[in-house]
Amino acid sequence: MISEKMEAALNKQIELEAYASQYYLAMASWCDKEGMEGASQFLHFQSVEEKEHMMKIFHYLSEVDGFAITPAIPQPPLEFDSVQEVFKQVYEHEKKVTQSINELVAICYKENDYNTLNFLQWYVEEQREEENQARTILDRIKLIGDGGQSLYYIDKEMKKFVAAAQAAEAAGEDGNA
Ligand code: FEO
Repeated sequence: MISEKMEAALNKQIELEAYASQYYLAMASWCDKEGMEGASQFLHFQSVEEKEHMMKIFHYLSEVDGFAITPAIPQPPLEFDSVQEVFKQVYEHEKKVTQSINELVAICYKENDYNTLNFLQWYVEEQREEENQARTILDRIKLIGDGGQSLYYIDKEMKKFVAAAQAAEAAGEDGNA
């Protein structure tokens, strides 16, 4: 059993995760168009992860006798000024998601909903990692610039990151089960 307030707040989170998935997919497409294959792979990977974040809440709501609402998703931006701008927007969006998770945790305490509080611990940890990852990539781009040679280097690093993340996932190390 879940309170109406908690159910509505989790449905809002479903919307946010669904939007993140579409937003990163649009960024992946733009990077691909610009020849940034590694950045595109990375953003595709992130987009799939966001869909998984959404589905975890979907299943949780059904488990606690709530109703998961399939969200309408606004059209994300399709064009970006630069790769630096892409990752700036990723970082800003992740900060927004973290804030939203924190608000959900606050509602859990207000509603004495310790089941949902327990469920959200995974998201608290995931947000710490995702925010840190987005900030690290952005800092590197800022440091080495986004001229042609720098972009080539960044793109190669992204490919390595995706390969490592996929290997960790195959080994069941990402806690995303
Ligand atoms: Fe599901 Fe990256 O927030």
